[in-house]
Amino acid sequence: MKNPFEFGRELGSEELVNRTEELGIVQRVIESGGKLFVIGPRRFGKTSLLRSAAERASGQGHIVLRYNAESYPEMGSLVGRIVEDSARLLQGKVEKKGEQIKRYFRSLRPDVSFAVTQNEWKVSLGVTPSEPAGATGLLVDALNGIEELAADQPEGRHVALIIDEFQEVLSGEGIDAEKQIRSAVQTHKHTAYIFAGSKTRMLTQLTTDPSRPFYRLGELLFVGMLPRPEFARFLIDNFVRGGFLPQTGAEEENRKLSHLILDLSEEVPFNVQMFAHTLWDHLSQIQVGAPERAYLNETLIRDTLDTIIRRNDPFYTQVWNGLTAIQKKALHAVIAEDGERLQSLKVVKTFGVSPSSMRKSLESLTNRDVLRQVESTGSVRFCFEDPFFAHWIDTFTF
Ligand SMILES: Nc1ncnc2c1ncn2[C@@H]1O[C@H](COP(=O)(O)OP(=O)(O)O)[C@@H](O)[C@H]1O
Ligand SMILES: [Mg+2]
Repeated sequence: MKNPFEFGRELGSEELVNRTEELGIVQRVIESGGKLFVIGPRRFGKTSLLRSAAERASGQGHIVLRYNAESYPEMGSLVGRIVEDSARLLQGKVEKKGEQIKRYFRSLRPDVSFAVTQNEWKVSLGVTPSEPAGATGLLVDALNGIEELAADQPEGRHVALIIDEFQEVLSGEGIDAEKQIRSAVQTHKHTAYIFAGSKTRMLTQLTTDPSRPFYRLGELLFVGMLPRPEFARFLIDNFVRGGFLPQTGAEEENRKLSHLILDLSEEVPFNVQMFAHTLWDHLSQIQVGAPERAYLNETLIRDTLDTIIRRNDPFYTQVWNGLTAIQKKALHAVIAEDGERLQSLKVVKTFGVSPSSMRKSLESLTNRDVLRQVESTGSVRFCFEDPFFAHWIDTFTF
């Protein structure tokens, strides 16, 4: 039986645990030409959610343009791709499509051709990001082109632009870029916009601070933890299906084991899936030699955690060695104090770091995606983006 636990790739809607409400929201936005910001930490399933929604919408005949801004080192290549994909997704004859694309995106002066042998559109832009309007100007021209394309579609055929890790588009561009993008997006009535990102604090500020251009530009959707009982159910059902957990008579024990996996992975969906995937592989190996022992149990779960952190040891060592002494102490404090009250006198004294260095370290570790902040009412907690890294630190550096 194939390992049912998948991590590190975009999941489709059939594979997602929960997220039905979120999918519904994204779909509604696509079909109503709305604007939506999807905000959530890395590894929680934003990209999978967007992919699932995009697949469904494309399946219903809508035009969905979806990009990860991190994959495009410069705006020219992103905008080029947008124009190419637009040509591909339009309906009609090749010549007509070429003309339409040139007209919609005329301010980009695109050279558009169709390579019959590769069955592919090739686009080169007649403008570059270094010209006066800059990178943002290029993007805004593309957005205006998409809006013209969208307005030209038959009734019921919607057009959506999804940009994942959207903060990359803004980085280094300043408030003028935000203003330019806003003034385009807010006048567009035909295109749905979905901007997503992992820099939760930055994106929350961007969209909720009244002095920023993006204030109230669209709805907000936070992608957080999956409901624990449902995630536990998903784990149990799959291990039962594989014959690694008893189907009946052990409900309480099964629940306990699934909760241990969730706890050790801090319920981060990517980590839970990676954990379960590795466990499944272990169980399958055991099954070959000693089928009577191929049952999930606590010892095997703990051994699996050990395997995972050892497997990632070269990577974790490298990250760890790249940190300053104070940053290392800050990470020790996060583990020992469960991420809370890290600038309190007691903590600062125990770890021998001044409150201001502690604050700076936590900030830089957050910017480097080692830590993330969880804000709940009244208090701030720091936790590891990768909970297995915390286990590694705990095992090898204390
Ligand atoms: N709803 C979900 N159900 C089960 N696993 C999920 C879910 N969302 C995410 N995952 C797991 O997390 C991994 C990373 O998801 P991804 O969509 O890339 O997250 P993000 O874009 O937020 O970083 C997936 O490959 C999958 O293993
Ligand atoms: Mg992602």
